[in-house]
Amino acid sequence: MSPNSASASEDAEWWKKTTVYHIYPRSFFDSNGDGIGDIPGIIEKLDYIHYLGYETIWISPFTESPQKDFGYDVSDYCSVSSHYGDMALFEKLLQEVHARGMKLVFDLVLNHTSNEHAWFKESASSRDNPKADWYIWRNGKGRKGTTPPNNWRAMAGNKAWTYYPERKQFNYTAFLPFQPDLNYDNPEVKDAMFDIARFWLNKGVDGFRLDIISAIYEDPELRDNPLSFRLAPSDKSLSIFFQHLKHNFLHEKSFEFAAELRNVVDEFDSPRRILIGESHGDEGLINRFCYDKGRNGLNAIFLFKAVSTPFKAPNYRDMLMRFEEHFPEPLMPTLVFANHDRTRVISRMGGSVEKAKLLALFQFTCRGIPFTYFGDEIGIPRVRIPLRHGKDAIAMQHKWVPQFLVDRSAEILNRDECRTPMLWNEEANAGFCHVSSQPWLPVAENFREINVERQMAEPDSLLNFYRKVIRLRNETRALNAGRLEIAHEFCTRKMLAYYRIAGDDKYLVLLNMSKYRLKVPLDNNVLLSTHTQGEAAQLQPFEGRVMVAAHH
Ligand code: GLC
Repeated sequence: MSPNSASASEDAEWWKKTTVYHIYPRSFFDSNGDGIGDIPGIIEKLDYIHYLGYETIWISPFTESPQKDFGYDVSDYCSVSSHYGDMALFEKLLQEVHARGMKLVFDLVLNHTSNEHAWFKESASSRDNPKADWYIWRNGKGRKGTTPPNNWRAMAGNKAWTYYPERKQFNYTAFLPFQPDLNYDNPEVKDAMFDIARFWLNKGVDGFRLDIISAIYEDPELRDNPLSFRLAPSDKSLSIFFQHLKHNFLHEKSFEFAAELRNVVDEFDSPRRILIGESHGDEGLINRFCYDKGRNGLNAIFLFKAVSTPFKAPNYRDMLMRFEEHFPEPLMPTLVFANHDRTRVISRMGGSVEKAKLLALFQFTCRGIPFTYFGDEIGIPRVRIPLRHGKDAIAMQHKWVPQFLVDRSAEILNRDECRTPMLWNEEANAGFCHVSSQPWLPVAENFREINVERQMAEPDSLLNFYRKVIRLRNETRALNAGRLEIAHEFCTRKMLAYYRIAGDDKYLVLLNMSKYRLKVPLDNNVLLSTHTQGEAAQLQPFEGRVMVAAHH
């Protein structure tokens, strides 16, 4: 072994210990007064993210796009949209991120382009142009061929097929009708998209977040999807409007694709680049994106089960056990509670800062990569925006859903509600944009109470708790790289308990997930608590603690 190999292998594993801060660029910080966030705005706020202790930043798409899905409809992959800046500014951002010892993860939308992408315009223009087979086109059924080829629905709820009179054919979309799926059975498409990945890797990005990687391939025989009893998708089942999306998602070949992409990324090994995929579905199946048939694929896959698991000790214990079962070393689970598609953490916690702290303690002390969404560290709430005012394309296509049903639901249908601007201070527009500008979405009404400036000054704020727990994780090998054992002896209906262990160092994490006071089961040396006041022998309601169990 050469003297350097230990540290080199250590470095290759950086992603296992990392912490991720997810930025929705439109909503983070507007530097030029147009009411939408931008790249110079992110550069200006890098010190803030660094101060919180995060290592990795994942930024939602900022390439050229008609912005119908705010960047997830890409019209030019190797560009920077003028909404956000230009390539030179992106390079500056990357340099500034790296100068702080941090990493940057690029959001890569491989599954589909915008229907305004030049490739698609060409492909849609006739049946015999050079790009004719770059997307998924099929003849319709019926005498006139105007009935869709099968019954597939898209993940956004709409029908998956759109008729194009120019080709007298149907076009397939796994998501919204303006996001046509690329045809990965065509080797030219795969080569073109892998070259796009190389373009950004050459720029120096540290990895990719892969948008709906579960949708890359679909059944070539186009078999009809079976019926389901479910109306809305859950984190267990890919079903929507009474249909199980069996044949258009999670196809065998999508797992093989993950391994091919791994090879592309491994061409760039210093420093090691990473792949994190977005997929719904059972952990026992989607772990195949990471390791399948003896081949390495993605480094990690989002586990959305955490989003919907009830905030109760037995449910969290079962979830942890599943994650450990399906993502044992050298695999690594992810810990995801929110993103730009889901409701805000504090709102799911009923507005309770206490619970939000406890959730953060869990997220940063468990075995797994924590992904947090900008603003959840201060508790930005879900901002109610009626469907009829929605700028989000999903909201627009669900305008017919009665508003009272949406209001009752814990989850959002109008994704604007979790994309409202960051709250920086108590000035007008919460410091997100100039006082005389119009922010693209309303700022949360309670921004005078909830904002970064204020929480930085309050020692017991949610923000300062994030800082403390992230710092503890960064400094403690057992927490960022150790193994996890559930402390079954202390787990009850009210309490979740687990150990983190590295060598002779052993820590016990106790989470009182109830509104009752609980006796602490052993003498302890507390490293961190969600509560600054209380008694050593008792856990306050919703208090969590990290304690030294053994230390050498
Ligand atoms: C993913 C993104 C979502 C986007 C969709 C289509 O689910 O998280 O925001 O609309 O893919 O690209």
